[in-house]
Amino acid sequence: MARWSRTGDIILVPTMGALHEGHRELMKTGKALAKKEGTLIVSIYVNPTQFNDKEDLKSYPKTFKKDYELCREEGVDLIFYPSDSEMYSGRESVSVTEKKLTQHLCGATRQGHFDGVCTVVTKLFNIIKPTTAVFGKKDYQQLAIIKQLVSDLNFSIEIIGAKTVREQDGLAISSRNRFLSTEERKQCPAIHEALVAMALSTEKQCPELIALGKSIIESKAPLSGIDYLKIVDRQTMEPIQTIDRPALAAVAIILSNTRLIDNIEIDSL
Ligand code: PAJ
Repeated sequence: MARWSRTGDIILVPTMGALHEGHRELMKTGKALAKKEGTLIVSIYVNPTQFNDKEDLKSYPKTFKKDYELCREEGVDLIFYPSDSEMYSGRESVSVTEKKLTQHLCGATRQGHFDGVCTVVTKLFNIIKPTTAVFGKKDYQQLAIIKQLVSDLNFSIEIIGAKTVREQDGLAISSRNRFLSTEERKQCPAIHEALVAMALSTEKQCPELIALGKSIIESKAPLSGIDYLKIVDRQTMEPIQTIDRPALAAVAIILSNTRLIDNIEIDSL
């Protein structure tokens, strides 16, 4: 990467592979930002340090041939596809920790997960040196943490958030959706339905909105367990009581061994 001659803007889309329509959207956003002169780079690396569950890491789908084709279809100029030993020497003693936003939502239950994300993204930024990086709003907390990281550590990189891509029935596309049983899959539209109902409601009190969302999920997706359903400040990820600033309703659902997350932006009118 250091020897590679750089011209125009360098747009990076970091991924862990098993690419799907959500990743494709990020690439389309990246391609538009790169224009003719720029370069669109996709990184594919299943980062072990962000998995707290070794089984989850082992079962993470690897579909490089398909990924390669998808990247080609979208006009990606370069795929950065490192091995574990290229990314980690095994002797490292420095990592990157974000201390505030990670206290909430997924950070509260997935110990060490965002340390792994912040560390690998910092490494990718230093190796690839992009001018812009594109992240999905599907993982809104991750996007907010990366914005904070770039600001706090003075990276000259613009961070762009791309919209969540959904199946026709509203389920956010994820590489984990393939683990759902037919019955579980049938109940999944309730997740987005609940979030939309919360966003469209005229109610401004968060406890009432949360109760509304929970009642929809509990009645329409009885196979699921709600890990959390919260309304937070979109920048700090701190829970709020009233919709009086740009807010985010965020949910994590567990169906058998599969954990799904989704969210919706709620604006005060
Ligand atoms: P991964 O889960 O592969 O996701 C890569 C990017 O695709 C993330 O920015 C994620 O938000 C986005 N994405 C996933 N599903 C999406 C959907 N349905 N619509 C829109 N965007 C979607 O997130 C990671 O990898 C890793 O944590 C990474 C940032 C690569 C660091 O290892």
